[in-house]
Amino acid sequence: MSKRFLITTAIDYANGSPHIGHAYEKILTDVIARYKRLSGIPVHFVTGLDEHGQKVQMSAQKKGIEPIEICDSLAGEFQTLCEQLNISNDDYIRTTETRHKKVVQTLLQKLFDEGKIYKADYNGYYSVRQEQFVTEKEKVNGEWPAFFGDVVEITESNYFFKLSEYQDWLIDTIRSNESLIYPRFRSADVLNFLKEPLNDLCISRPKERLSWGIELPFDTDFVTYVWFDALVNYITAAGYGTDSFDEYWPADYHVIGKDILSPPHAVYWPIMLKALDIPLPKHYLVHGWWLSSGSKMSKSEGQVVNPLDLIDAFGADAFRYFVISEMNVGQDSDFSEELFQKRYNSDLANDLGNLVSRLLNMGHRFAGGIIPNSEIIEDEEKVVQDHWEKLHSEIFELYDTFQFHKALERIFSFIRELNRYTEARAPWKLAKSEDATDKLRLSTTLATMSEGLRVSSILLQPVMPEISEKILNSLGQNSVELFGDQLKWSNQLAGSKFGEKSILFPKKES
Ligand code: ME8
Ligand code: MG
Repeated sequence: MSKRFLITTAIDYANGSPHIGHAYEKILTDVIARYKRLSGIPVHFVTGLDEHGQKVQMSAQKKGIEPIEICDSLAGEFQTLCEQLNISNDDYIRTTETRHKKVVQTLLQKLFDEGKIYKADYNGYYSVRQEQFVTEKEKVNGEWPAFFGDVVEITESNYFFKLSEYQDWLIDTIRSNESLIYPRFRSADVLNFLKEPLNDLCISRPKERLSWGIELPFDTDFVTYVWFDALVNYITAAGYGTDSFDEYWPADYHVIGKDILSPPHAVYWPIMLKALDIPLPKHYLVHGWWLSSGSKMSKSEGQVVNPLDLIDAFGADAFRYFVISEMNVGQDSDFSEELFQKRYNSDLANDLGNLVSRLLNMGHRFAGGIIPNSEIIEDEEKVVQDHWEKLHSEIFELYDTFQFHKALERIFSFIRELNRYTEARAPWKLAKSEDATDKLRLSTTLATMSEGLRVSSILLQPVMPEISEKILNSLGQNSVELFGDQLKWSNQLAGSKFGEKSILFPKKES
């Protein structure tokens, strides 16, 4: 079996319901996964849930239930989100699964046996909210940033992983591997972080403080700490320890938000893998944050747009379209419902939806429900076709370089071109004309509109799989399995039946 394209999302914390950040990351990853599959690449797409840790334990205690009950219920919510958003993941990994615990314990034992994990006393300041030790230098004007919540001084014995030994190796690796981190400017953050000497990483918690975790195989009084558990999910899901591991690993892309690049993904993870003699992931795709009036939308900020509400109201594809067209991958983006409605009404309902409904309407009224031949190519048609040729030659480059917002902009500018063309041709007038050339023009107009919609719908497939399929069905076609010859402008629709009229994007009041 040849190597699959392994693409992963971060695994979400089981400490709150999904929000737009989670939805976005899954959609972004899904668009890439679908695009790769359409390009003929065998894909394995993994997402999942990060279930252990202090916050889950604490909220279970408060509610008087077992932590696993919280996790099961949230796993349900997150998996429902995936279904509702039409996420095409091949696997859903939960860190409480046996397959995962086994891998974590195997790795810990290996590192311990090799002397890469050791026990030591540690005294320091601990942020309960961030579940991490913090240092004096993180104080701002002599105070712990509010972000840390309560900070308490504690001393405890713990196990440590020898991160510091790998610092020089990591700096070289990041410097010499320019395509490791996308966008490139984020490498600078990591290299900046690596200017200071690395401390060894505390990888355990005493069970009396944290019991909701994976037990250390060499000391059952302790469990592993958040990152050593969570990051390992990627190789668990790739089948570490089984014959098929090489078929999946190394990951081609870890898709993550900018808050978890450095240090977890760009420092801890490569060093863990290096210490274990496992190849590094090929790339990180680091996206920005969805903000609400300038601040991060998250559970702790209490500013949460429930994506499920918008999906219910507008449909999964409208939501997918919005986040992908609005976000320049890597940058932050402001979310507002007004903006959502505006884009929905202008791009989807007006530009795309109206074009389809006009075409179907006229196809039934003027052409007996059969897609006519393109009979006569005049300047108007040439403009449309030239626009298509240009779009066609640019679009894959945009998809390949994660410039999805630009790709959608180009596709929609072509859709607007089709609308302009329709207005200029005015088939409703041509239909009244007795002139023989006008009759040819009428057929040609309906054929050109149909063909323009056919080819542009195929390009929309990674972002709006359902809408794309509906449009293709209404032209008597199926959605495509592979990008290829069907993207050539042709007369192949002639003779196919127009589907029934339907409203793709019902107009909403704003
Ligand atoms: O970090 N905008 O889980 P998480 C965009 N369990 N993305 C956002 C966002 C926002 N407002 N808020 C969060 C964790 N995200 C760990 C990961 S991976 C081995 C363990 C993104 O639920 C965030 O950047 O806090 C991350 O990539 C993902 O959602 C999960 O965040
Ligand atoms: Mg987070």
